Amino acid sequence: MNHSDRTEDFKLDLGRRPRRLRRTAALRAMTRETWLRREDLIAPLFVVDGSGKKEPVGSMPGVFRRNVTDLVEECRQLADLGVRAVALFPSIDPGLKDETGSESTNPDGLVLRAVRSIKDAVPEIAVITDVALDPYTSHGHDGLLNDAGDNVLNDETVERLCAMAGLQAAAGVDIVAPSDMMDGRVGAIRECLDELGYTDTAIMAYSAKFASAYYGPFREAVGSASAAGTTQLDKKTYQLNPGNRREAIADALLDEEEGADFLMVKPAGPYLDIIRELREATSLPMAAYQVSGEYAQIHAAAKLGWLDYERSRDESLLAIKRAGSDLILTYFAREIAESLG
Ligand code: PBG
Repeated sequence: MNHSDRTEDFKLDLGRRPRRLRRTAALRAMTRETWLRREDLIAPLFVVDGSGKKEPVGSMPGVFRRNVTDLVEECRQLADLGVRAVALFPSIDPGLKDETGSESTNPDGLVLRAVRSIKDAVPEIAVITDVALDPYTSHGHDGLLNDAGDNVLNDETVERLCAMAGLQAAAGVDIVAPSDMMDGRVGAIRECLDELGYTDTAIMAYSAKFASAYYGPFREAVGSASAAGTTQLDKKTYQLNPGNRREAIADALLDEEEGADFLMVKPAGPYLDIIRELREATSLPMAAYQVSGEYAQIHAAAKLGWLDYERSRDESLLAIKRAGSDLILTYFAREIAESLG
């Protein structure tokens, strides 16, 4: 028999036909399992000193370094769009960077001034600040180096992070986010915050942060690559090996034991298995960070006409939620909030 003769009347004897529920838009909406909500979004924002115009970040179309005034305005607009939280990252004047990142504990530093201004003008938005030294060090590493300059010191760095977190809490942040993958930092920061009376300042731990190639555009944005004179900054002695799943889960659970309020996986899209496994191992709220390189690659492919921009953007975020993350740090936050209407 000729194949084309029987296309309409050939019938399989099937008890179940999963396509039944995909037949119409109504049925598809009724059976949809995962939704992105405004409340899921955390917008990472870059802040720079001075009163200059907002500076575009080359490899991140639509992302800017903003002065404090413009940053506050952006937070106002985000809050009006229903975004509940922002995560701040400073681009520090290269003249203020040194070997030990001493600017990180300047009581009148850029991030602290930014936090106070946001809390004054947009008190309803939750502010998350990074607790790590890399925006402040002349070598671009997240911690203090040993004398030989070939290793990042763990415990001495953690002491510094505690001081930073204390200043951030005093400035009014809602959540501090230690992002450097040093050992013992969550417990030490919790103890220090409690001693200072900041028992209500929460900790979002960058619990499973991988030594990833996808951080490249971010390092341009905060200038940690240019400070170090290389885009190939090697953080393998503190960030996780991208091939290690068991180690990632074990390390993340240490953060929970030490008192973290949120656990985070970073990057997000290439690490969906880690998100899922950690989701099943913890009852804490979880975040995932769709990092700069994930954002850049969608933009780049769309610009070449190789991917549909909005559809690949939306799918990338839906996949992160489906994997089990409650919250997503994403540079798409604003436009997603806008598109949710
Ligand atoms: C480091 C830090 C990094 C990011 C946030 N905090 C990158 C790094 O390890 O150099 C990356 C975020 C992104 O790529 O969007 N404290």
